[in-house]
Amino acid sequence: MPAIISKAPGKIILFGEHAVVYGYPAIAVPIDAVQIRVSILPAILKNQSVIKINNINWQEDIPFTELDENNLIRTSVENVYAHINQKPPHFEMTISSSIPIAAGLGSSAALVVAITKSMSQFLGIYLSNDEINALAYKSEEIQHGSPSGIDNSVITLGQPILFCKTKPISQLEIKSSIQIVLGDTGKRTLTKEVVALVKRRLEKEPNFIKPILAEIGSVVEEAADALLYGKVEKIGSLMVRNHIALKKLGVSSIELDRLVESALINGALGAKLCGGGKGGYMVAICEPASCEKVSLGLVSDGAAHIISTTIKGSKQGN
Ligand code: MEV
Repeated sequence: MPAIISKAPGKIILFGEHAVVYGYPAIAVPIDAVQIRVSILPAILKNQSVIKINNINWQEDIPFTELDENNLIRTSVENVYAHINQKPPHFEMTISSSIPIAAGLGSSAALVVAITKSMSQFLGIYLSNDEINALAYKSEEIQHGSPSGIDNSVITLGQPILFCKTKPISQLEIKSSIQIVLGDTGKRTLTKEVVALVKRRLEKEPNFIKPILAEIGSVVEEAADALLYGKVEKIGSLMVRNHIALKKLGVSSIELDRLVESALINGALGAKLCGGGKGGYMVAICEPASCEKVSLGLVSDGAAHIISTTIKGSKQGN
């Protein structure tokens, strides 16, 4: 039997992180520049299932039963078994990923989506995107506590989305392609911890935090319109507004602020932190002619790594 292979992209939250946890809308796009790949082979002659981690700086073979009960790989596999009420023969699962962990680019959501897809195919069961997304959310809950669901949704669908917890997910039209540069602060913070920090602040200082969440919600609504009509300068200025609000919320960091400022000084149209914050990556949008200057500036201002890529417009060829 040939190996079953599933891939899942990383993601960027272009607008609306954190406020989305409290019911405001947010905009996310998948990025193929970083990816996770999960392959599964039957291991019928073996007496146990094995997970092989095969990343650039981390190679390890782990027997499945030695994974901690709350381990994301374990729960993703077991959630598929439970959903289809079937246990597979022993298997060998190889996981290779270029998505940095705890950096705001969706590594855990991509992992659970790719495992859910490959495990269901391995078992010969068709799962719809809605089922994959619901199972991925269930696994993400263990990692994050109370995720909004935006990460697993954008990665399952592989399309830009306008997401709101209380509404059906809508695909987002983006008029024309947008060049982006992602800059890594080199710092890693778990999203769960930053989400908990915002929750504590909201409980302690509701009069200060609530208007910031509402401001982020308005930025997202304006941004959806600007993306639809290809108003790049407006998109850029809304990113800056979003970053200022996130900074007030307390989820930025000295390194993120430095990289955002660097991108703007070097000609980016807009820049902001992306994802949970307190480290990880920032995202800048640029005219194609200024991308190189922005990237070089980010490196000289301390970025540990740069990813330069494009968010494709909804209509092919844009
Ligand atoms: C994480 O990518 C985005 C957050 O808004 C958390 C969530 O939506 O679950 C910070």
